[in-house]
Amino acid sequence: MLGHFARTVSFISIALLMPAANAGAAQNGHPEQKCNADEIHWTITGLTSVTFDWRGDEDKIRYGATIGYGQTGTGNIPKPLPFSSAGPFRQAPLTALTPNALYHYSIGTCPDHTFRTPFPPGSANFIIDAEGDIGSSRDYKDVLPVQELIAAHVPAAVLVLGDLSLANPNGQASVDQHFNDMMVWSQDVPYMPAWGNHEWDVARNDDLRNYKGRFGLPNPQTSPGVPNPGCCGQDWSWFDYGNARFIAYPEPYTVQTWADWYMKTNRLMDEAQRDPNITFIVTFGHRAPFTSGYHHSDLDLRHYIARLAAKHKKYALNVNGHSHDYERSYPVNGVVSVTAGIGGSELEELNTACLFRLCPKPSWSAFRAMHFGILQLRFTPTVIEGTYICGPGGGGKNDISCTSGSVVDRFTIRAAEK
Ligand SMILES: [Fe+2]
Ligand SMILES: [Fe+2]
Repeated sequence: MLGHFARTVSFISIALLMPAANAGAAQNGHPEQKCNADEIHWTITGLTSVTFDWRGDEDKIRYGATIGYGQTGTGNIPKPLPFSSAGPFRQAPLTALTPNALYHYSIGTCPDHTFRTPFPPGSANFIIDAEGDIGSSRDYKDVLPVQELIAAHVPAAVLVLGDLSLANPNGQASVDQHFNDMMVWSQDVPYMPAWGNHEWDVARNDDLRNYKGRFGLPNPQTSPGVPNPGCCGQDWSWFDYGNARFIAYPEPYTVQTWADWYMKTNRLMDEAQRDPNITFIVTFGHRAPFTSGYHHSDLDLRHYIARLAAKHKKYALNVNGHSHDYERSYPVNGVVSVTAGIGGSELEELNTACLFRLCPKPSWSAFRAMHFGILQLRFTPTVIEGTYICGPGGGGKNDISCTSGSVVDRFTIRAAEK
């Protein structure tokens, strides 16, 4: 973890000096050099590969073990092509990297940052953050304060649980602003997304091209029933990190979409169940199998999760968004579900005595709160320690008061007996 600490310190100083997109790079004493790239983020695509995405004229990324770099990658035009602005949009897959290694990189003349290949199979003691339903600072004042909670501790990755930019109700400029807002952490921490309904289904003011064209996903999967524009491929993905397998789930485009996901995920979980390096299986996506908030629980998803859980003891946790609140279930068939739609856009409090749709909370609900923040998941050799970190109060009504950065909820999920 020492490496993570060092990264935190150096990253915060860079972030404070250069918070904005297109920050002028003053490298090598040449203040006139301009960094012509923004919306910079990257994904883990395997144990020895990552993919960078950005917008701007810069088309080269230099990278290496030190700030001397030594290797160069090329930002190609992505497919599908995002349409939120003129771009140009770039995507650079970096392969044949050293496993379990920290790299320095610079896009064009942009400031130095670092990326990391995943912890090796079977290893532990890393933190994965999760948040959903985020939006952009163009529309919501609490988006950046929530992202700063992530930047302050630099996790191994962030699972982003759909309803990413909320450009759908707010306009296409919000897509670009969202990816610039995320840069407070997304230059140094992988942005691992799942898609939400706002990426495709509401009023047709946005579609999946703006998102599929901005990420290289690990083990990308194609779902049936995906609408055009935005079809086909990169509907969900999965990756291994240390002692855990993370499997995303797609949006329910048609009734076939989750049936297809279930069949493929069943095989991925069979494999993980047999793999001695994997202790925990985690699923993540947008829709909520258990929520007492604004949206109804998705019973189809609940059904598929129960079937997967019955056959796979390592399956311990599901994380989702959609209802804009925080809610943790007790283990149901051995799986804890956590809604973390707390990324800063708007809380979805209802006009009820408890602000949730169901008062009092249902018997499966262990803890819930109407408040922004982030979910932190620390993976040890034997447990997942979950922590809900308080963010800004924001939005309309809150049902708790807490200091930003303090712990609101803490839970432990033990590994199943082998
Ligand atoms: Fe949402
Ligand atoms: Fe949603």
